Amino acid sequence: MEIITSPTAKEASRLAARYVARLVQQKPHAVLGLATGGTPVMLYQELITLHQEGLDFSQVTTFNLDEYIGLAPDHPCSYRRFMNENLFDHLNIPAECTHLPDGLANDVEAHCQEYEDAIAAAGGLDVQILGVGTDGHIGFNEPTSSLASRTRIKTLTEQTRTDNARFFEHPEQVPIHCVTMGIGTIMDSRRIIMLAFGKQKAEIVKAFVEGPVTAMVPASVLQMHPHVTVFLDDAAASLLSKRDYYDWVYRNKPQWQTIEGKSASTASS
Ligand code: F6R
Repeated sequence: MEIITSPTAKEASRLAARYVARLVQQKPHAVLGLATGGTPVMLYQELITLHQEGLDFSQVTTFNLDEYIGLAPDHPCSYRRFMNENLFDHLNIPAECTHLPDGLANDVEAHCQEYEDAIAAAGGLDVQILGVGTDGHIGFNEPTSSLASRTRIKTLTEQTRTDNARFFEHPEQVPIHCVTMGIGTIMDSRRIIMLAFGKQKAEIVKAFVEGPVTAMVPASVLQMHPHVTVFLDDAAASLLSKRDYYDWVYRNKPQWQTIEGKSASTASS
């Protein structure tokens, strides 16, 4: 796992955007796995700026991690709406190449299999962008989710519903169920980047980076993936016991291995 700390969330998001941009430059038909929530918003703003400066997304395909069950795509709190407003409306990705689970699917099980099949048919994910829940979830894989799980229906924890209530008018409007890529689906991605910002994420960052691999902290499974880069701001990194070492590694990377250098894809984990 590569840990990159930055003084601010904006700087961390800028670096993460460069990582994604380099991938898209190297592989114009890249398949991107995307996340919603507060964390990736600045990363998306950076990608929009890079697009305005010429970065072409016309051959890119995207798959989002999750969607609430029961929310129509145009519902103000649906993840489809969030993605349209925060990213897709501002890039030149063809609309039909942007995929989210359907929160209104009649046969949820069949829909989950179709979602898995569509990812496979697109060639698999080149990079999955992740945030982390304060309870350690990735996607909406809550604690005790199988580390081998595939796309399926999940029940949100009360903690996640409380954390996400800020996006809704009333807390009780937060849906109880969602469709989420599984942990196995996420781990199949060729590369993974995780972003975490703020003091409220410091404890869970310490748990998934430096604690044991356990289904009680789903994000800890990332320790088993060969190409994970974690972008943190100072506050989120504040409880890491090996912080000095991570910063030392980053400062001493050969230039060709850095995000600004020749090939982000070879950054070691
Ligand atoms: C969102 C998702 C979630 C969020 C996590 C953190 O698609 O899958 O895992 O990344 O809940 O949310 P924020 O960024 O709002 O703290």
